[in-house]
Amino acid sequence: MSRQLTLFFGNALLDLTVPVTAEEEKHLVQRFGLVPHVGQEKDTIQNELMAFVSETRSDSTSYAPGGCALNSSRMMAWLCQREALDVTTVFIGTRGAMDRSTQKLLSLVQNDGVDILMAERLNLPTGHCINLVQSVERTMVANLGAASHFNLSDLQELGVESKLKMTQLVYMEGFFAIHSLDAFKAIIHLCCQRARIKFCFNLCGEYVCRSFEFVKEVTYALSEMDILYGNMSEFETFLKTASTLDNPNIEALKCGLKGGQYIQSAEERSDRTKGRLESSHICTVIITNGSNPVISFLLDTTASRVFEFLSVRVPKVPRNEIKDTVGAGDCFVAGYLFAMLLNRSRLQCIEKGIEASHLVLKQSGTSLPN
Ligand SMILES: *[C@@H]1O[C@H](CO)[C@@H](O)[C@H](O)[C@H]1NC(C)=O
Ligand SMILES: *[C@@H]1O[C@H](CO)[C@@H](O)[C@H](O)[C@H]1NC(C)=O
Ligand SMILES: *[C@@H]1O[C@H](CO)[C@@H](O)[C@H](O)[C@H]1NC(C)=O
Ligand SMILES: *[C@@H]1O[C@H](CO)[C@@H](O)[C@H](O)[C@H]1NC(C)=O
Ligand SMILES: *[C@@H]1O[C@H](CO)[C@@H](O)[C@H](O)[C@H]1NC(C)=O
Repeated sequence: MSRQLTLFFGNALLDLTVPVTAEEEKHLVQRFGLVPHVGQEKDTIQNELMAFVSETRSDSTSYAPGGCALNSSRMMAWLCQREALDVTTVFIGTRGAMDRSTQKLLSLVQNDGVDILMAERLNLPTGHCINLVQSVERTMVANLGAASHFNLSDLQELGVESKLKMTQLVYMEGFFAIHSLDAFKAIIHLCCQRARIKFCFNLCGEYVCRSFEFVKEVTYALSEMDILYGNMSEFETFLKTASTLDNPNIEALKCGLKGGQYIQSAEERSDRTKGRLESSHICTVIITNGSNPVISFLLDTTASRVFEFLSVRVPKVPRNEIKDTVGAGDCFVAGYLFAMLLNRSRLQCIEKGIEASHLVLKQSGTSLPN
């Protein structure tokens, strides 16, 4: 029997962390036209920042895989390994030519037990994010490069449809969907046609939720989605952008977010189960809110109603044990989905998500515990 797969679609990014002194930082910010101490997108090839780092700083630079879905896939592979679940985690995205940083990224990801299926754009660099770090301040310069060029032809070329025969779970991040909406629609449709495949979508991050085009397509796709995840800020931004859409599922999501005040009564629910269950589509919604309770409810996208509201308390992590919150959300999803592969209840999946996110709070970045 062939092994089961889980497919993660996302931006393949290599994180480069370059320690600098205050003096050096000032100089580099000026030389490469950067804004200090914030995140920004730049053509790091054209302004030669990438060449500068690899030629003069290669010894002091540390490398890590970046990207939300990439980090979730690494956590998923780690959980499968630790708990001996025979499921292969596959990351799907786009890379540039096979230069040193591409090789570095691929080998780091493979070492974490993730299989890679990548379309190529040989005229573009592999996506990367250069972090100039000076004590607690960091100037982040991202270049998505090849990562933002995934399209419909790549689905064909990578044989994604035949992979789906062995797949029970497909995951995609918002950062990926926004630049590849055609592929997003095609993939979710393929999954929806196969009842045993669950499609999980992560809204991340806030800036994509400000794009009307993105929000519109995600709203239409709710009727084919099995799990919708995001944090509170992302949901609030998403719903604000969606407010002009006049879509009943958006109204239902707003009710769910208000804490279930308008959740239908048990009576109404049994009416529904009598008549419509066969034809209705249910999407599980999960919202994290930092250290506040995780909220979840079911959205019947056919009747545009929410029900079965859950609020799950997050155990406190002592402040001195928290290294940083980088990747907490991405690891929450990985934990949730892992428990789902084990057919656990929604409550148990959320608890597993919390457990996984707490593991990385105690690590710096999204490095995995030994
Ligand atoms: C996808 O991108 C490749 C490379 O740029 C291009 O050759 C192909 O025509 C594109 N396909 C679609 C459907 O846009
Ligand atoms: C999310 O957390 C904030 C506190 O940071 C709280 O005020 C808010 O009520 C929470 N939202 C929900 C819907 O629980
Ligand atoms: C949601 O995630 C973003 C990006 O990781 C973060 O900046 C924001 O504080 C998070 N919001 C909540 C409510 O957790
Ligand atoms: C979960 O349930 C599915 C469908 O009933 C089954 O095929 C699968 O083997 C189960 N997985 C585990 C780990 O029990
Ligand atoms: C992914 O994990 C790496 C560390 O392994 C971290 O540096 C990076 O910020 C994480 N990316 C995201 C989007 O959280």
